[in-house]
Amino acid sequence: MDQPRKLYIKTYGCQMNVYDSERMAEAMGGAGYTEVQSPDDADMILLNTCHIREKAAEKVYSELGRLRDLKEANPDLKIGVAGCVAQAEGAEIMRRQPLVDLVVGPQSYHRLPEMEARVRQGGTALDTDFPPESKFDKLSRRPRARRAPAAFLTVQEGCDKFCAFCVVPYTRGAEASRPAARIIDEAKDLVERGVREITLLGQNVNAYHGAGPKGDDWTLAGLIHALAEVDGLERIRYTTSHPNDMADDLIEAHASCGKLMPYLHLPVQSGSDRILKRMNRNHTSDAYIRLIERIRAARPDLMLSGDFITGFPEETEADFQATLDLIEEVRFGQAYSFRYSTRPGTPAAERAQVSDAEASERLQRLQALLTRQQREIQQSMVGREVEVLLERAGRQPGQMVGKSQYLHAVHVTAPQAAPGDLLRVRIAASATNSLAGDMIAE
Ligand code: SAH
Ligand code: SF4
Ligand code: F3S
Repeated sequence: MDQPRKLYIKTYGCQMNVYDSERMAEAMGGAGYTEVQSPDDADMILLNTCHIREKAAEKVYSELGRLRDLKEANPDLKIGVAGCVAQAEGAEIMRRQPLVDLVVGPQSYHRLPEMEARVRQGGTALDTDFPPESKFDKLSRRPRARRAPAAFLTVQEGCDKFCAFCVVPYTRGAEASRPAARIIDEAKDLVERGVREITLLGQNVNAYHGAGPKGDDWTLAGLIHALAEVDGLERIRYTTSHPNDMADDLIEAHASCGKLMPYLHLPVQSGSDRILKRMNRNHTSDAYIRLIERIRAARPDLMLSGDFITGFPEETEADFQATLDLIEEVRFGQAYSFRYSTRPGTPAAERAQVSDAEASERLQRLQALLTRQQREIQQSMVGREVEVLLERAGRQPGQMVGKSQYLHAVHVTAPQAAPGDLLRVRIAASATNSLAGDMIAE
């Protein structure tokens, strides 16, 4: 038999790209490739890219530049660009960087093996279709290898929301949900391979509407309740959600489903009604605050996380102040914040831009507030009992690191324990980015 060829995948961007990279590695496993951890002696390098902000997109070209030496040393090396930059820029990538052999958009990964065969013959391959068939039906799930305790599982892809700043509806296409039975099978398979926690992924995951086993229509809440029945699966999370799709049954699931973790990433982007409207978010600041109140009534210990943008076109100091006010009122345990980045083809790109200096200055003030809240909330965990899913050994002898139900990293001394164990831990201290605690004896 031939030696397996070596595939190196570098992943940028969101969790869905992490999931997609696993799928691509599996698909290429069927074409005789094995995944390696270094690009140095790879036969094929795939960059799984992100287009969300200008900086993310430009990274691809600097990375491709760095691969030139490898390509010169090994003319048989094939280089591919996958992901959202591939979808957005297509053939332009090969024009700008001729060392690229292959460009594949996120909805065509199942075609990767045939594309690879074409580039092996010396040609190039480009596929940025939105094919009628679903890649999920075609992608093989080959290796039965053991998995880390926490895994991602894509249940929904694409976005119909068209926020005025965002490229995702163009790079991922229209919303589509996978059938529930497929997802449950995949979850069972993951659990058999050692997974204890699954994060359900979608660009708009709470808009999930998948075909149920009886031809009925399932919501995300229905799917979560069904997954909670899978033996050996201990924890369920989902991300990312849109406030307008927080249905009553999903809020109720936070009260009634013990395996659904008390953590919610619910981006709001801005606290100014004027800006929210211009962003096409279709909700007000007050509606968001009332929604959070309802979710917290269902699950009082809920840890909330959000995304924010500063310097969106036409944002004034008063608009920005409204964002700070919303944050003060809601309180976020975790947050991601970005300076607005103008994206080609989006409606906001045409509008009056806020200066970079102003947007950066606001971002600094925003992050100072968010960091303070994050620290305070983390500090308030000291003395509390949490449940930690161990993920790996820590740096000290006998030390393990895992995540609490609130997604805090927790260090604990547990020499007898192994990744995948769930431990009851009392939090003793809060450091900058993690907590430390002691095991509670049974
Ligand atoms: N589907 C998810 C994730 C979108 S991208 C969602 O709806 O939340 C993740 C975050 O990137 C967004 O929530 C937004 O805060 C940020 N983002 C998206 N486009 C951006 C842009 N043009 N400039 C700055 N930040 C942006
Ligand atoms: Fe982008 Fe808005 Fe869709 Fe999220 S909901 S992916 S921010 S368009
Ligand atoms: Fe980036 Fe595409 Fe994800 S643009 S954030 S990789 S959906």
